[in-house]
Amino acid sequence: GRTAVVIPAAGRGVRLGPGTPKALRPLGGVPMLVHAVRAMARSTSVGPIVVVAPADDVPGVRSLLDGHPLPDRVTLRVVPGGGTRQESVRLGLAAIGDPDVDVVLVHDAARPLVPVDTVETVVAAVRAGAPAVVPALPVTDTVKQVAPPAAPAADGVDTVGGTAPAAEPVVATPARALLRAVQTPQGFDRSVLVAAHEAGSAATDEANGGEGATDCAALVERRGVPVVLVRGHEEAFKVTRPLDLLLAEAVLARRSV
Ligand code: CTP
Ligand code: MG
Repeated sequence: GRTAVVIPAAGRGVRLGPGTPKALRPLGGVPMLVHAVRAMARSTSVGPIVVVAPADDVPGVRSLLDGHPLPDRVTLRVVPGGGTRQESVRLGLAAIGDPDVDVVLVHDAARPLVPVDTVETVVAAVRAGAPAVVPALPVTDTVKQVAPPAAPAADGVDTVGGTAPAAEPVVATPARALLRAVQTPQGFDRSVLVAAHEAGSAATDEANGGEGATDCAALVERRGVPVVLVRGHEEAFKVTRPLDLLLAEAVLARRSV
């Protein structure tokens, strides 16, 4: 079988601040999305890649990527995304086509610096029989659980990434040693991931600010499919806030010396 990649890149990047969509922001002068596509194409197991672009800019993303040639084994599609990451991934999965694909990797455009070793560790674990594989690292901060918002947030209020309201009550403190921060690429048996997205397409998760599943593996877990973690990499971090962009620039600069 072949291994395909879906790259959700349709987000606006609200937490990064105003400007072009996050995936198109430059890193070392090259859009983050181009780094992410190249990082995945570097793994020789990868064939089809589906980029899920902002719905209003599919031709722009297509021509951008056409300007950055990939190895011959890689075929590239660009399709319009949806209102949440979950919806964008679902649309990307539907565009894979190719019946020979039996393994799918889902990789955030916002993780442009993932090392090829991490990609290959995930692919190897899926190929060895795990239906769902997620790269992860121990968390460094202690994490507090809080109560879900009492009412749905008013339009324009960011309950997901914004500043926590003052004096939030703590509900619990899970033992830090038992927590992991998850990354991408997440790797799946194709049929398992497609089935989870079909079943989960109507689910909106209010506790998650109506964002849907921010993590594909969560949809798979809900269906009772075992999910395993493999060792992630610090350089697979997600560019989310302005400080992350500074870090990414520094990592990239260090690589090219
Ligand atoms: N994503 C997507 N479609 C959406 C929302 C997010 O394809 N409707 C993608 C983003 O482009 C990103 C990945 O999902 O590559 C991870 O999401 P996140 O880091 O949250 O990016 P954004 O949603 O763009 O950022 P923010 O939440 O700060 O707006
Ligand atoms: Mg988001």
